[in-house]
Amino acid sequence: MITLKKTALTTALLAMVASAPALAYQKGDFIARAGWAKVVPSSDESDTFNGSALRGTNSKVKVSNADSLGLTFAYMLTDNVGVGLLGAYPFKHDIKGKSGALRGSGKLLDTKQLPPTLTLQWHFNPGYHLHPYIGAGVNYTYFFDQNTNGALKGTSMDLNNSWGLAGEAGIDYTFWNDYLVSAQVWYIDIDTKAKSSSSAIGDATVDIDPWVFMLGVGKKF
Ligand code: NI
Repeated sequence: MITLKKTALTTALLAMVASAPALAYQKGDFIARAGWAKVVPSSDESDTFNGSALRGTNSKVKVSNADSLGLTFAYMLTDNVGVGLLGAYPFKHDIKGKSGALRGSGKLLDTKQLPPTLTLQWHFNPGYHLHPYIGAGVNYTYFFDQNTNGALKGTSMDLNNSWGLAGEAGIDYTFWNDYLVSAQVWYIDIDTKAKSSSSAIGDATVDIDPWVFMLGVGKKF
């Protein structure tokens, strides 16, 4: 009786091990995902603006969340090491007055941004449908299409592009061999200098440092 049970267990374990390679990602696999991405700034205010009209008034701004279509790719260099890329359709953020003379001034600016992020990933590759990984790398954020509003109307404001480090974690659930649903998260160091064309407004560093969340579907090639 005991022997029979042992044999059944051994058979089951052997079957699991034998089926593992088919489910694991392997060297040379290319994974593409698309889905809903959300950028959530972790910092809720900028530094103070230093313009002549704002100096000493502790005037700060904050950056809103933004949603867009996210696209991510991974290429497996080995069975465990992959290169990951986060791309997206542009995110659009509102920048609002937060404190000092800018408090309650509503939307001052909107901007679009693209945050391509390249990471080196470690895929734990347990050989099951669930496929977790972590990664670290570098982000470049390109800010464009700024429109001023309210108190800034009639002036222009530029946001410097940003280089920063990024960390990520994610998990794919594979089904029908090559299809998957995925959840991903990044923490990205994004800091920009907002520079007004008006010396009365001046400039300020805006620390955005967002969490980026993405839920998507994908395919392994
Ligand atoms: Ni930062």
